[in-house]
Amino acid sequence: MKELKYLNKYLYKYRLNLISGFIIIIFARILLLYTPGLIRNSINVIENFISNPESSINDLQNELVMNVFLILAAAVSAGIFTFLTRQTIINVSRYIEFDLKNEIFNQYQHLSISFYKKNKTGDLINRISEDVSRVRMYFGPAIMYSLNTVVLIIITLIYMYRQSPELTFFTVTPLPILSITIYKLSSVINLRSKKVQESLSKLSSFTQEIFTGIQLIKSYAVESKISKEFNRISNESKQKQVSLVKMQALFLPLMILLIGFSNLLVIYVGGKQYLEGEISNIGIIAEFIIYVNMLTWPVASIGWITSIVQQAAASQKRINAFLKQKSEIINIENGNFHLRGNINFRDVDFIYPKSKINSLKNINFNLHSGKSLGLIGKTGSGKSTLIKLLTRTFNATNGEIMFDNINSKDFNLQSLRNQIGVIPQDSFLFSDTILNNIRFGNESAKLSEIEKVCKIAEIHEEIINFENDYNTLLGERGLNLSGGQKQRLCIARALIKKPKILVLDDCLSALDNKTEIKIVKNLKEYLQKTTLIISSHKISSVKNLNQIIVLNEGKIIQSGHHQKLINENGYYKNIFLKQSSEK
Ligand SMILES: Nc1ncnc2c1ncn2[C@@H]1O[C@H](COP(=O)(O)OP(=O)(O)OP(=O)(O)O)[C@@H](O)[C@H]1O
Ligand SMILES: [Mg+2]
Repeated sequence: MKELKYLNKYLYKYRLNLISGFIIIIFARILLLYTPGLIRNSINVIENFISNPESSINDLQNELVMNVFLILAAAVSAGIFTFLTRQTIINVSRYIEFDLKNEIFNQYQHLSISFYKKNKTGDLINRISEDVSRVRMYFGPAIMYSLNTVVLIIITLIYMYRQSPELTFFTVTPLPILSITIYKLSSVINLRSKKVQESLSKLSSFTQEIFTGIQLIKSYAVESKISKEFNRISNESKQKQVSLVKMQALFLPLMILLIGFSNLLVIYVGGKQYLEGEISNIGIIAEFIIYVNMLTWPVASIGWITSIVQQAAASQKRINAFLKQKSEIINIENGNFHLRGNINFRDVDFIYPKSKINSLKNINFNLHSGKSLGLIGKTGSGKSTLIKLLTRTFNATNGEIMFDNINSKDFNLQSLRNQIGVIPQDSFLFSDTILNNIRFGNESAKLSEIEKVCKIAEIHEEIINFENDYNTLLGERGLNLSGGQKQRLCIARALIKKPKILVLDDCLSALDNKTEIKIVKNLKEYLQKTTLIISSHKISSVKNLNQIIVLNEGKIIQSGHHQKLINENGYYKNIFLKQSSEK
């Protein structure tokens, strides 16, 4: 229960609904328990009528009709109150489910990229769906049935005890056995249904991956191998389902058996007592049989609830583990500085936290506002890593990154990131229209502005040739763009932000030389006051920039402008010659 304490704040938030739910339950139960007494009374009147030949049939009729009317009225009112109970308590569980999902989602968004590297996407989704629904069961059914059970047991025991203490004792003795049996059974059922859930999510992740990679599967003609694998996973899932159903099938018969046993006990003990004259009339037996049946579900639910609460606690434990995580990228409230665009790296080292790869070593450079920098180097030399440090996706392990002589750690993260436009290496677009994908960078951008940035990114002409031009839908249900088209849309999306620093991480790689050179030229013209960083494998993308840095295994091995680097014997000159001859 320790883990569930975290949720008390929600219980407090919805305390009024819960308290009114509790009061309503009491009313519902009192009304429901009004009927067995009326039934006893009806049987007694008939018994008296039979044993007393002088009594009038009219009186009997009137009394019975009155009782029937009262029973109906009590049942209908109890029904209304039960409906209201669900409307309060079960609704609260839905409100809390909603709050908790939002809390987890917000926490996810605040955590840094390293959190996502450490945890599997499936786990993240499971916390917010499966685990939250298990916790909801604690707030809804568990709380409702617990209150229900407590109220019902107390009131019923009082009613029963008043009629016959001895019969009460014999009637309730088998009930704890019912409770324990249902608890054991529910625990097994829950365990098995968890396994079913796991196998189902395995099946769906497998299917999802297959559909995503369907083109590859078809081109390698491995359909039959994949089908076999699907069959295997699906069969595993089927077996788990069957074993779950076996246990579920036991639930009802077991309950009926135990109720039957209690009923027999009431009839046996009650009958004996009646014959021995210890209880005065036969109606009591009928009344007790109704009590036993009324008590069965609440008593059984104790076992069921215990198992629900255990599961909820286990789920909440997993949720708490995520909620308690703190982002290692500390954000500060203030620090909304206006960037001018000066960048200064001072002795920056970086080691990836998980893999311990030392990807940047002693990086020093200075880039003035409005100037441009080229990053060039072999694959894996650290270009993308350097860019990630710029936006504080990760913190530098050693050294400082300064913007306009202010440490990047003193900036508010959102403010910093809003002023830097990064076009990542792997272009990602949402399954939405072209317009909305570009507006992602600036929601209030006008169409004319969007057209302008698309012209700079050399993609406007292609967009207007699509059937629905800027309203063309992309992705799963829409148009698939080519690699180069995607890259250019991503450039437009970054430009619409009007960033003070624009960073292109190898995002001209899919373009032909002519387009690439045109875009770099456009960018330099349009972004006169913007600091520009371009990372690339190609000399042509960086040769006209003010400054070029050559990276190798995380170290700066050469730096300077194009002409200077050409005159040095080194990596830069080598690839320049190689790429020129290829051209
Ligand atoms: N998320 C990560 N976790 C651990 N190591 C990483 C991660 N990303 C990159 N690395 C490692 O850091 C080094 C630098 O990688 P980086 O992506 O910065 O290279 P790059 O110069 O951008 O390469 P490319 O030209 O192929 O894009 C590589 O050795 C790589 O394996
Ligand atoms: Mg890279």
